[in-house]
Amino acid sequence: MRNTDAVPTLAETRQRLERTGQPQLLAFWESLDEVRRGELLVSIARLPLEHLPAMLAQAAGLAKPSAADIRPVRPYMRDHPEADRYRGIGEDLVRRGRVAAFLVAGGQGTRLGWRGPKGTFPATPVAGKPLFRVFAEQLMAAERRWGVRIPWFVMTSEANHGDTERFFEDNRWFGRPRADTMLFPQGMVPSVSLDGRVLLEHAWLPALNPDGHGGALKALRSAGALDHMQSCGIEHLCYFQVDNPNVRVIDPLFLGLHVAAPDSSAEMSSKSVLKRDVTEKVGVFVKAPRLTVLEYSDAPREISEARDASGAITYGEGSIAIHVIGTEFIRKLTDHPLGSVLPWHRAIKKVPFVDPATGTRIEPAEPNAIKLESFVFDALHEAEGPIVLRTDRVEEFAPIKNATGEDSPATSKAIQCERAVRWLREAGIAVPLHANGQPDCVVEISPLTATGPEDLRANPPTKPIARGSETLI
Ligand code: UD1
Repeated sequence: MRNTDAVPTLAETRQRLERTGQPQLLAFWESLDEVRRGELLVSIARLPLEHLPAMLAQAAGLAKPSAADIRPVRPYMRDHPEADRYRGIGEDLVRRGRVAAFLVAGGQGTRLGWRGPKGTFPATPVAGKPLFRVFAEQLMAAERRWGVRIPWFVMTSEANHGDTERFFEDNRWFGRPRADTMLFPQGMVPSVSLDGRVLLEHAWLPALNPDGHGGALKALRSAGALDHMQSCGIEHLCYFQVDNPNVRVIDPLFLGLHVAAPDSSAEMSSKSVLKRDVTEKVGVFVKAPRLTVLEYSDAPREISEARDASGAITYGEGSIAIHVIGTEFIRKLTDHPLGSVLPWHRAIKKVPFVDPATGTRIEPAEPNAIKLESFVFDALHEAEGPIVLRTDRVEEFAPIKNATGEDSPATSKAIQCERAVRWLREAGIAVPLHANGQPDCVVEISPLTATGPEDLRANPPTKPIARGSETLI
């Protein structure tokens, strides 16, 4: 339902619910006041009830590939013999304003246990800069380097949109023109019981959950962002996730390969790193036979633990959730009655609800509900000639997902520092070391100072790095 559509009447709504097998949504109608009744009619009108059985059936029937169906992928490498040529092509695209940045930040960050949007988390090892600032500074660095304004699209969710907007506002949009950042919330889908009934979160409100980062494509279109960017001549979106402070948001080599590699059609391209070990929780790129990401939770052990004759992990191209997506390709994918052609995945979760029979609020002890979501990487399957660029883990992947242990703030800070030390040493700048060769300092390099060793060579720090210090460069 669009904002301009008339709200269906009670009688129309009742008929629709009978027809679609969801009459429980009006169970508390008699007890609601006028305002709540109005809200309920609007919420129901927005639910995709006619499509729900097909969405659920599709999610239930999604085939999990077996080892017999898949092959490893052959990625491009950063030291490709024609890397300089591709980099030049990518730089030209950026300079001509053909490129925008696209961050998905709708997740709830439950594993991290951070109250508030994940992008507000203090992520860097010395200054404790929030993730949103790290990305904004990278964009400013790119804008200065190539003398261009780079629009930044940020997908939020209903749960964190207001807090995200306030944070950007409080930080004065991180020093970039307000008009160059567009925040918009992702869509929601109904959470349903195991027998396909939409749950009620309150007597006047169906239970909803975010539609996954695959919803990003639909949200870009429905928020008007796609029209806006295409009217400004933007042809490619640099897509990244909120949890990775080491992402190279604008990467000319990646962009150049995306548009000009002989086997790419510039619809969608992705970056990989070699999996750290067989248990690492990353999706992997496989050919099945089209390029696909096999999610870690869906990969049987015969696939995730397979090794080739040399002992290397057979399906080792781990997805770091960095893609370039063509805007025309997004238009093609979103020309669909349900907003996008991406398949629905399901997760069985505990969802509190109001029991329509008794009116009691139930906090289930066991998973009771199906949450549907779609994944942006499924778009690869639809793309003609998608390519993968393998990159270096330390250079581009320092995820913050869990509060402690693997992929936590502590491991991310260690990787950020390792990269900073590497850049300094490559630029010929002395870094104090312990006897075991490990750095005897914590270093952070602001994206506004350098986005690689070449910037440090051109503009070295004015003071030497002191032993045992915490240094922001
Ligand atoms: C994700 C990928 C995995 C990849 C890994 C790399 C999925 C399902 N898996 O795992 O293949 O190897 O990252 O780090 O994505 N988000 C939204 N809206 C949503 C759901 C998520 O915007 O409805 C955003 C989050 O804010 C986050 C990103 O998507 O930026 C990743 O989501 P998450 O569910 O944390 O995926 P991971 O399990 O970390």
